[in-house]
Amino acid sequence: MGKLDGKVALITGGARGMGAVHARTLQAEGAIVVITDVLDDEGAAVAKELGITYLHHDVTDEKQWNSVITETEKLHGPIAILINNAGVVGFTPVADTDLDEWNRVLAINLTGPFLGIKTITPSMRKVGGGVIVNISSTAGMIGYSNLSAYVSSKWGLRGLTKAAALDLAADNIRVVSVHPGGVRTPMTAGIDTPENYKRQPIKRIGEPEEIAKLVLYLVADATYSTGTEFIADGGATVGQVLNV
Ligand SMILES: NC(=O)c1ccc[n+]([C@@H]2O[C@H](COP(=O)([O-])OP(=O)(O)OC[C@H]3O[C@@H](n4cnc5c(N)ncnc54)[C@H](O)[C@@H]3O)[C@@H](O)[C@H]2O)c1
Repeated sequence: MGKLDGKVALITGGARGMGAVHARTLQAEGAIVVITDVLDDEGAAVAKELGITYLHHDVTDEKQWNSVITETEKLHGPIAILINNAGVVGFTPVADTDLDEWNRVLAINLTGPFLGIKTITPSMRKVGGGVIVNISSTAGMIGYSNLSAYVSSKWGLRGLTKAAALDLAADNIRVVSVHPGGVRTPMTAGIDTPENYKRQPIKRIGEPEEIAKLVLYLVADATYSTGTEFIADGGATVGQVLNV
């Protein structure tokens, strides 16, 4: 018996990186997993390997959210789990950040999860409730240089989590945010040097499986938690070591 037997789970940005590992982890516990992404070849390959469903889906598009949910319900029934995982990053000093780039990052990282929460709620009501996990970042807990749009989007997602948790509690829908530090995925290729991790208590990059185990706990076992943050960052946001 799995912890999630028969529960339908939708994971955005599931074609690679952490999303693909969340898919594998939830499926191993019996969930019926649907991954969505804009990378169709990679998404189809992951779906084929795991024997799950892949659907094309740009998270910034409300119409595509509606059709992904309709299609998922047609194939597998109402959805009980949403992992808002799709995200993008871009490194530019705030004064050099184009408005188009700002809007793109906010649209994918913050508006996307908002649309997901909004459009999936009727589906979750049909199964008596559900769990929504918003993948924020340590960039939703502190600031980082050259990442103003990303940091703003991830702080926004942390706030959206709290507001949505309050609105949806009566529907038995829990909403939580996850705040990974550096994790080995295509997103961190090139910045995963030991130098970037030597000041944190656990002096290494995280592995996607370490975040997926936390997501599984939140979905399956964290029945008394909603609206709150779960950090997995090797201690990066704990504080500063003082040399005295
Ligand atoms: N890797 C890290 O160190 C790290 C740390 C903290 C938080 N995160 C967050 O974790 C999540 C997963 O990131 P990852 O590291 O696996 O990166 P990744 O780049 O490997 O995966 C992100 C996925 O999102 C998809 N995506 C991008 N734009 C999309 C859109 N408009 N619609 C649908 N899908 C879209 C991409 O195609 C990709 O498959 C992101 O939200 C990211 O911000 C990552």
